[in-house]
Amino acid sequence: MKPIGPLMWEHRLIEQMVALLRGEIDRITSKNTVNVILVEQAVDFFRTYADRTHHGKEEEILFRDLAQKTMSPEHRNIMDELVREHTHGRELVRKLVEAKDLYVNGYAETLPHIARELKALVDFYPGHIEKEDKRFFFPCLGYFTRAEQDRMLEEFHSFDRNMIHEKYRTVVENFLGKKVLRPAQSA
Ligand SMILES: [Fe+2]
Ligand SMILES: [Fe+2]
Repeated sequence: MKPIGPLMWEHRLIEQMVALLRGEIDRITSKNTVNVILVEQAVDFFRTYADRTHHGKEEEILFRDLAQKTMSPEHRNIMDELVREHTHGRELVRKLVEAKDLYVNGYAETLPHIARELKALVDFYPGHIEKEDKRFFFPCLGYFTRAEQDRMLEEFHSFDRNMIHEKYRTVVENFLGKKVLRPAQSA
């Protein structure tokens, strides 16, 4: 498998979450109610899966290695745009959390804000994914030898292996309010 394989599979799951949330936006606007658990799970999905796990592999491995290559100005510009879009995606999730927290804390009139922030998120992700799938990933593979691609795929796997530990270590640390001991080799 090429290293862009797992990234493109991850895009397909993100698209499924986006479709789910489109349905939730319709529910909010037509029934004037929101599935808070779905929104909270979606926030976790975008933070842990779409951002930390998926954008993490893009930025910390693929983009890091691309930055060592002599890239065409077009590809370098797209890579810079993609990094900015990742930051924008994080900001959209933060705004969704803000709207959801207000609603949960009794400010029922903020329900339309949840719909608005969800809409911003579902409008953002498909364009970002399409840019990577159609204009970036395949041409970028050309900068790497077969051996470099194999090493990258292995690094992706090891990055993923660490995620479940990082995720639940963070859950415990957030409740404790302090760092816990971790194995020497993990980040
Ligand atoms: Fe991305
Ligand atoms: Fe991506």
